[in-house]
Amino acid sequence: MLKSRRNLLAAIVIGLVAGTVALPSFAADKKLTFGFAQVGAESEWRTANTASIKSAAKEAGIDLKFSDAQQKQENQIKAIRSFIAQKVDVIGFAPVVTTGWDTVLKEAKAAKIPVVLTDRSIETKDDSLYVTTIGSDFTEEGRKAGHWLLDNYKGQGDVNIVELQGTVGSAPAIERQKGFLEVIKADPRFKVIRSQTGDFTRAKGKEVMEAFLKAEPNINVLFSHNDDMAIGAIQAIEAAGKKPGKDIIIVSVDGVKGAFEAMMAGKMNVTVECNPLLGAQLMDIVKQVKAGKPLPKRINTKEGIFPMESAAKEFPSRKY
Ligand code: AHR
Repeated sequence: MLKSRRNLLAAIVIGLVAGTVALPSFAADKKLTFGFAQVGAESEWRTANTASIKSAAKEAGIDLKFSDAQQKQENQIKAIRSFIAQKVDVIGFAPVVTTGWDTVLKEAKAAKIPVVLTDRSIETKDDSLYVTTIGSDFTEEGRKAGHWLLDNYKGQGDVNIVELQGTVGSAPAIERQKGFLEVIKADPRFKVIRSQTGDFTRAKGKEVMEAFLKAEPNINVLFSHNDDMAIGAIQAIEAAGKKPGKDIIIVSVDGVKGAFEAMMAGKMNVTVECNPLLGAQLMDIVKQVKAGKPLPKRINTKEGIFPMESAAKEFPSRKY
């Protein structure tokens, strides 16, 4: 009995080596699973980013487990823990804020699940907690906004700027502000007189701009960390009887269709591009990570800048 079993086993091994016996193919057929914790649905940019990730996963044959954190870090942490419990192959997330990730990322590392960051970066002393970050250079976006303003502002005298910041503690809010201030300090006429968060949403952008307008009779420029807040602010400026794009110059970031419509109507002066269509590149990276291929710690997206004069020409080809 024992001998015949041993013979059978030997025959299978010889067959496998010779290629005449096939093992059940569940291992080869198993879809790669990718758990992704998204920031939320706070802006046009985010909606385009989510759509890009979902369609790219489908296209790449990756089983995407998607979670929407509604702009709350605790929800993202919960989602990451649930991906660990489900033993996904790779975890990805766009961190709502930069700090406070080490504990959960150590849990992912202990479970041997690689982590990829997209869109926003984190602050950590331990770089081994994630493989790579793919996204925009937010500091450079802030610099581009600052340069555009210095080069194109036509008025005389002091230039009073109000700033609508993104989510407090988020990488785009911290870095866009840093890049913008770094550039405008070259000309002492340009001063940020008020700065407050509008949490990257249209509603908050409108609300905070209303407060700015009540407090400051002399606003020359709005620097908004995203288009949604700028569009909300445009409504507030019009309601206050002023002309957005003329009485108040509007400098924004993202380059969503809504911003192009505002520029074509003469209500926004410039938008610095921040590309949300990261899905295909992200899925490619997920596959490479799973295959153990080495990747750079940072992969930056290429981006441009669109002044209002280019809006009508660019609009038909805009994808988000
Ligand atoms: O992290 C990217 C930023 O997040 C976009 O500029 C903004 O619109 C979004 O909500």
